[in-house]
Amino acid sequence: MSGSAIELVDLIARWIHVIAAIMWAGNSMLFNWLDRNLRPGSRDAAGGNAPGALGQIWLLHSGAFYYVEKTLLGGQPMPKPLHWFKWQAYTTWWSGMALLIAVYWFGGRALLENGSGGPGSHAHAVWIAAGSILLGWALYEGMQRFVAPRLPLAANVIWIVGLAAISLTLLHYLNGRAAFLHVGAMLGTIMAANVFFTIVPSQRELVASVNEGRGADPAVSARAKRVSIHNNYFTFPVIVLMVSNHFPAMYAGRFNWLLLLTLIAAGAAVRHVLNIRFTLPSWQPILAATITASAIALFTIMRVGAEAPSVVAPALTAPVTFAEVRHVIDRRCAACHSSQPSDLSFGAAPGGVMFDTPEQIRAHAERIRARAVLTRTMPPANKTLITELERAIIARWIAGGAGLK
Ligand code: HEC
Repeated sequence: MSGSAIELVDLIARWIHVIAAIMWAGNSMLFNWLDRNLRPGSRDAAGGNAPGALGQIWLLHSGAFYYVEKTLLGGQPMPKPLHWFKWQAYTTWWSGMALLIAVYWFGGRALLENGSGGPGSHAHAVWIAAGSILLGWALYEGMQRFVAPRLPLAANVIWIVGLAAISLTLLHYLNGRAAFLHVGAMLGTIMAANVFFTIVPSQRELVASVNEGRGADPAVSARAKRVSIHNNYFTFPVIVLMVSNHFPAMYAGRFNWLLLLTLIAAGAAVRHVLNIRFTLPSWQPILAATITASAIALFTIMRVGAEAPSVVAPALTAPVTFAEVRHVIDRRCAACHSSQPSDLSFGAAPGGVMFDTPEQIRAHAERIRARAVLTRTMPPANKTLITELERAIIARWIAGGAGLK
């Protein structure tokens, strides 16, 4: 497939993925919110509660009033039509997997391995990437199905330790950017699997028992609700991991593993405060404190983990000329960052960045420093073998004002 055809596939899959994910996460937020705000009883307040009623609520949206009642039907006939919510989850998952495969596994639109591997390392990295997604899900599923019913705390602790171990393994074998995304994909896979293997089958059971004239079993309902709440807690971590590839200071530092785990914890913690806010007096300061503490933790880890430029590269004190810098950029960056790249793996001008003219180079000086000097995430996995001295030349040029002389 030509480069522009792959780019189009990438764009369409991404578009579908983001739309489906917004719809899925939106539903998760709305139903979770509903559950925590329901009023006891049902609408026919005059005549007492309808059988099976678990609560009711009035809503105002888009110019009208909506009435929603939560019920296990309690012997009433199955209402028709009945709307399920599952395609958002499945569509998010398959479009996300298609993207992962096209971008990281086989399409070569981003690097997967961490650059230190020899021949065959890509195939190896694909196995590790796919294997960890599968393993992460299997561990979660095993814990939830077999351990949680009797030892819920142990199930959660084992699963969280497993999540950390899988994250570290991915960060070892894959480059940071790919590893962050794959941890997100693993959590997203668990969420979609929760819909497919637990929520939808439980709902089928509920529908069957109502059709047979029995009331819906609250235990079956509770099983679906439990993993649905897990999914709700996963949404914020997954979203931040999915956008993390724009933030090299997160995925590339020495402590990127700690940043990864902190991002997940922060996302879940913020979600938790938002979930319990309806019963939490003065939740606003608690939310602000959670966000601030997370930001401070991330910032501190980032700062401690960022290697000082002088450690990274031999410090140059003499001024460098633009000609020297241009030579480095031509040799190490222009293979990709050009309107006519010689390395076609990422298409023309990846990230929208071209270094064809001196002005283009100067205009990007700050980002060049961020990517080639500070986070050392360019060239990706040092594909063009830039040397420490060359990084130092770039650093010195920018420190000296990035002139064109
Ligand atoms: C093998 C191809 C390749 C080479 C060589 C390469 N880059 Fe990149 N560059 C990319 C890709 C792919 C992206 C977009 C993904 C990303 O941002 O990680 C990118 C994005 C960028 C961006 C824009 C994103 C941002 O963070 O501002 C800058 C700046 C950049 N590269 C600088 C450089 C510099 C400087 C060099 C040489 C030292 C270089 N690149 C070498 C592939 C390459």
